[in-house]
This record gives sequence, structure tokens and C-alpha cells, in this order.
Amino acid sequence: MAALEYVQNDSLLGVGTGSTVNVFIDALAASGTRIGGAVASSIATAERLQSHGIEVLDLNLAGQLELYIDGADESDPGLRLIKGGGGALTREKIIASASREFICIVDQSKQVEVLGEFPLPVEVIPMARSFVAREIVRLGADPEYREGPATDNGNIILDCHGFSITDPIGLEAAINAIPGVVTNGLFAARGADLLLVGHDNGDVETLKAAAAD
Ligand code: A5P
Repeated sequence: MAALEYVQNDSLLGVGTGSTVNVFIDALAASGTRIGGAVASSIATAERLQSHGIEVLDLNLAGQLELYIDGADESDPGLRLIKGGGGALTREKIIASASREFICIVDQSKQVEVLGEFPLPVEVIPMARSFVAREIVRLGADPEYREGPATDNGNIILDCHGFSITDPIGLEAAINAIPGVVTNGLFAARGADLLLVGHDNGDVETLKAAAAD
């Protein structure tokens, strides 16, 4: 898998959540690369890493990480993302922000011109669910309560349908400013640095984020 080329021996790695990252974890274990340890963005990822004998570290003890590897639900041409389909968005955003470089791995079906066709996940403190839902409606979307177990942090998810996200940085900030929101699945203020896109013909395309002004 192409993402392995970016992993250095003895480095500390942040590892995301989802089916794409699961393939990466298995390939990392099979590659013989000896990393110093990994910070996991979910309980499921921690368990998978440990099942391969990879040490899982507490972010508080690990400090800044060299590299974060994760998938995404959507990516736009500016390498801004929607994430959280698997419910791990908050820990993913923390680890992405605590890492020097964020490499995102997707297949070509995840590439879009404008973010928002995939419902935007928002993690919410349970008592604020109805209030936050009303505020999301005011911002122009239709929030849907995600049934099922709480997030790893004990919170609920609202999947927000109908946003056409032409200003991802502005919308990310606006949603995060609603009291009761833990975070939302827009990774725009801190998007990916590199996007590795797997194409149907087997090619992997490498896209780099434009340098900030
Ligand atoms: C997990 O909460 C998500 O952010 C995933 O990274 C994202 O949903 C991609 O998952 P898949 O690789 O399973 O499509």
C-alpha cells in the first residue's frame, strides 16, 4: 500500500479509523516496518493495532506525532474533508491536529467538487441534542439522529443532510461554535497535506495541498 512509503522506522504514528485504515494497519504489520508506537483514533483501531503487536500510546504521553494516516468520506480539490462516517471524528481531529503531517488515503469515489453530499457528522453532548439540531436547521441543513451505540466519548452523532459546503472553513467554525457541539466532521481548517487516491485501474495518484499564503 502506497501510504507505507511515508512511514519511517521508529516513528510515532497517528492512526485513523475505518475500512481503508484497517487495510493500512494490516499492511503496516506485514511490512516489517518497526514503528515506535501508534496513537489510535478509536477503540476499534487500538484493538486492531494491538492484535498485530503494535504498541498503542496515550496522546498525552506521545507529544507531537510525525504523521497521521486516515481515510475520509469525501475530499474536495483543496484536500478539505468530510470525516466521521465511522463516528470517530473527534479523536481523529485531535490527532490530525497534533501531527506534523496528515496523509489521507481514499479511493476515487470519495473525490467531490463540493463537499456535502455525504451527510456531515456532528458529535454532540447528549443533553444538547435537540438544541443543536434546531441550530443546524437554522444553518440550512437537516440533522438526523444516528441510532446505535454512543461514540467512544459517550456522545451522540447528528448526521446533517443538505449542506452545500462552499465555505468549509467558515461552516466548520460556525458549527463548532454551537454550545453542546463537541466537533464536526469537516476537516477544513486542518485538511490533509497529502491525498493518496486509489483509482479503479490500480494506479495511486498523489495530490498535495497548496501551500498556505
Ligand atoms: C471514521 O470516523 C471516519 O472518519 C473514516 O475515516 C471515514 O469514514 C472513512 O472510512 P472508510 O475508510 O471505511 O470509508
